[in-house]
Amino acid sequence: MAPTLNLFLISTLIVTTTTLSYSRTTPPHTTLLNVSSTLHQAHQILTFTPNLLEHSTPTPTPTPSLSHIESSKSTLFLSLHLHPRETILNEHHPNYTTLLLARLARDSARVTSLNTKLQLALTNLSRSDLLPQDLSAPVSSGTAQGSGEYFSRLAVGNPPKPFFMVLDTGSDVNWLQCKPCSDCYQQSDPIYDPTASSSYNPLTCDAHQCQTLEMSACSRTQRCLYQVSYGDGSFTVGEFVTETVSFGSGSVNNVAIGCGHDNEGLFVGAAGLLGLGGGPLSLTSQIKASSFSYCLVDRDSGKSSTLDFNSPRPTDSVTAALIKNQKLDTFYYVQLTGFSVGGVSVPIPPETFAVDQSGAGGVIVDSGTAVTRLTTQAYEALRDAFRRLTRNLRPADSVALFDTCYDLSSLRSVRVPTVAIRFSGGGTWTLPAKNYLIPVDGAGTYCFAFAPTNSPLSIIGNVQQQGTRVTFDLSNSVVAFSPNKC
Ligand SMILES: *[C@@H]1O[C@H](CO)[C@@H](O)[C@H](O)[C@H]1NC(C)=O
Ligand SMILES: *[C@@H]1O[C@H](CO)[C@@H](O)[C@H](O)[C@H]1NC(C)=O
Ligand SMILES: *[C@@H]1O[C@H](CO)[C@@H](O)[C@H](O)[C@H]1NC(C)=O
Repeated sequence: MAPTLNLFLISTLIVTTTTLSYSRTTPPHTTLLNVSSTLHQAHQILTFTPNLLEHSTPTPTPTPSLSHIESSKSTLFLSLHLHPRETILNEHHPNYTTLLLARLARDSARVTSLNTKLQLALTNLSRSDLLPQDLSAPVSSGTAQGSGEYFSRLAVGNPPKPFFMVLDTGSDVNWLQCKPCSDCYQQSDPIYDPTASSSYNPLTCDAHQCQTLEMSACSRTQRCLYQVSYGDGSFTVGEFVTETVSFGSGSVNNVAIGCGHDNEGLFVGAAGLLGLGGGPLSLTSQIKASSFSYCLVDRDSGKSSTLDFNSPRPTDSVTAALIKNQKLDTFYYVQLTGFSVGGVSVPIPPETFAVDQSGAGGVIVDSGTAVTRLTTQAYEALRDAFRRLTRNLRPADSVALFDTCYDLSSLRSVRVPTVAIRFSGGGTWTLPAKNYLIPVDGAGTYCFAFAPTNSPLSIIGNVQQQGTRVTFDLSNSVVAFSPNKC
């Protein structure tokens, strides 16, 4: 009698629970995480041998020239190769955990540097006000290993010499390590030598490019000296000059670029930096690009992609309004309204994502930050929604900044709740599973790849952008996300 009653009770309970959770709502939307293939890639990248010879031939042919563009927007399609860091540098990590921890250390240095830049802009301080501490500050662990997750290949000078440059949407000033070096870090290409280029042209102190610099000085001979410090102890100092920059399909004369004689901290491996920010000295502004787009291939994939200028935005993309911060023209802000997990909206007050009166807060799209940072409140709401729908997965210990991890070592693939980012105007960008569940040890532990930040500034990072063509349509003030367009 008793066993029968128990069974009856249990089945009633099951029916009741099932009814409560599912009868009035549709099941959560899920998507497939291919555990086998992401783990396979993670193992492959550890033994990947960069083939620099493949990249050693100058890509560009220095015609046609865009040097006469003055007021009109340029429309010539220009394209550069884009490579994930691990396919260029031979860093020899003993296992995937050390590779991941190195990436995360660089990433926190990056986030610090973006926040410092914004704080300086909001408080009207100039970098020179901070200079003494800045220069004496020890370079933090991340920067000592060299920042920059994606490198593009372009050529500088006449005759054009090819260089790997870090792609950076979070800064404007372009620069190259430059002979003679008072202090240059290691790079994979020979260091740029101005004496070997007929198009090298120093700027004078009264040149408008020199006056536009945040930090400049004048040499005894009236030449323009620049300095950029990245807010985390790293910096570059040298002469501000103009040079010819060549792309695959054309070249642009008289691009203002820093010839850095003293370069410390960031960017080890790359010959310099390509500033793609919204300020007047960025490459995009100088060539008057109507748009630019990049596709960041999966960092473990060993593949490459392109950085394009003046390309039309793909038609099937999710769009977001591109917003400017009056206090800082460098960053690309988008108006985010929230997230959904499993197809259901996560309750987060929308003002969490807005730029406030003072210019603080908001959400930027950044090429150089890896893991998306959200204000603590937003992060916790997103994470909790994800945890609630993943109770079927075996939990694992936290790893570094990740507090939501799973042991998927016994699975070849698994269905996980969808995660989507919503923009004002109704666009919903649904992320592939591998853009939010990433391997952390090569043994089958995966973590939810979002992180909280104490700063009011949120950042959409490149882990979430992987495999997506991101178009900054500058003429129409739109950012477009197009999945599978690498
Ligand atoms: C996972 O990826 C591998 C390699 O790309 C593929 O062969 C396999 O079919 C995928 N598994 C699923 C379940 O899609
Ligand atoms: C990875 O390598 C580091 C450094 O050699 C070592 O301390 C760590 O235990 C290794 N981790 C695994 C999971 O093998
Ligand atoms: C910064 O300068 C602007 C004008 O240049 C001024 O309106 C604003 O109040 C200043 N902000 C601070 C925090 O001092």
